[in-house]
Amino acid sequence: MHLVFIGTGYVGLVSGVMMAHLGHHIICLDSDESKIESLKQGIVPIYEPGLDEYIKNSKKRLQFISQYRDAEFHPDAVFICVGTPQKESGEANLEYVFEAALDSAKNFENVPIVIKSTVPPGTAHAVEAKLRKEGYKNAVISNPEFLSEGRAIDDFLYPDRIIVGADDEKSKELMESIYQSFSNENYSVLCSTRVSAELIKYASNSFLATKIAFINEMADLCEKTSANIEEVSSGIGADKRIGKDFLKTGPGFGGSCFPKDIMALQAICRKYKSESKILDATIESNKFRTENMVEKIREGLGGGLCGAMLGVLGLTFKAGTDDVRSSPALEIIRLLIEEGVYICAYDPKGMDNAKKELQVDMAKSYRACAMGAYALVILTEWDEFKNLDYESLAMDMGRKIIFDFRNIIDVQEAEKHGFKVFQLGKVKAT
Ligand code: UGA
Repeated sequence: MHLVFIGTGYVGLVSGVMMAHLGHHIICLDSDESKIESLKQGIVPIYEPGLDEYIKNSKKRLQFISQYRDAEFHPDAVFICVGTPQKESGEANLEYVFEAALDSAKNFENVPIVIKSTVPPGTAHAVEAKLRKEGYKNAVISNPEFLSEGRAIDDFLYPDRIIVGADDEKSKELMESIYQSFSNENYSVLCSTRVSAELIKYASNSFLATKIAFINEMADLCEKTSANIEEVSSGIGADKRIGKDFLKTGPGFGGSCFPKDIMALQAICRKYKSESKILDATIESNKFRTENMVEKIREGLGGGLCGAMLGVLGLTFKAGTDDVRSSPALEIIRLLIEEGVYICAYDPKGMDNAKKELQVDMAKSYRACAMGAYALVILTEWDEFKNLDYESLAMDMGRKIIFDFRNIIDVQEAEKHGFKVFQLGKVKAT
């Protein structure tokens, strides 16, 4: 089939490229000309493992453009994958979605418009009403995306499910034929109304965020009761009704989706005068989590933070991405700087993006970052941090302390070299 993807962020670019890989003819359109120029030259603007190879291999079926008039074909469907940034009120800003829908309708007569961007319930209906008012007849379909950064290709090829929100049979059939080309036959296309599909996306992300906030509070309780959070997580996760995923404790959930989406869902509840006590608690708990990390560092250092020199390992909101949006690591660094701590940070992929948000010294390697530091603080679970060279670190560091807030290092190995290690949800180091 012939498909257009509008927006070349994580969702639009990965979806477009992977659809081309599956044999569809794809146009990726973005108003950012410099991004399109880079893509034409094979330069991928985001770090997503494997994506550059897929772009190279599907080149024949991929066109990158910044103007509708350059489209090489009239498509069977247009997918809107533009951002829905957070307004100050917490609501999603839908300006770009409406703009993209109108432009698509103007340029592709009667072509169904599929909204992939995360949008509040009722948006597809509102977009359709706007199009009708302007005299356009395009159908509007909801097809929320469930790709997670760093593993987006696998998520795309092996989805748990595909959600299609369509209020008419023709739209449902179109979506089924688009997704027929998948190699994996174990997924199902779940059809619902458009408004349910829109809510499924927010509810999924908010539910997962709540699971994380819950396990983080359990980790705190483990520290106080001498239980072990890894044992507790695997114990509760073995119950199929709960499931083992998203029960890993850490410095709080971040990224461009969970924090924004849960606040948008809270705003939706407010709009409809519906209770949001669980969402409120999750947001509050996650906000407290970063402050909590700072307190753990203060305590571990013996009470004083002012003047301390810390090496921070990890800036991205999770491993496998260069994305630092709403990263707990950046928030923790900001709080530490406010306390008068001197920070040197290192991240294998996120330093360029972090530099745009934060003024902090950055080192070229984790070893350079540790030089003279009182302690190392691990905030992202990069593989590179799982097996640190403790022998060298022991010689380079001022004090031998590691705050492992992703629970990734081999504590016994570190202790052999004289390190005192603090992990989350475990008996405190003495
Ligand atoms: C999330 C969802 O997982 C995707 O399904 C969804 O499509 C995407 O948002 C989106 O709405 O576009 P993503 O933000 O890439 O994907 O990242 P996740 O892997 O879900 O992680 C989010 C945050 O939770 C990270 O800060 C991560 O470190 C944290 N996390 C995750 C934990 O602290 N513990 C866990 O067990 C899992």
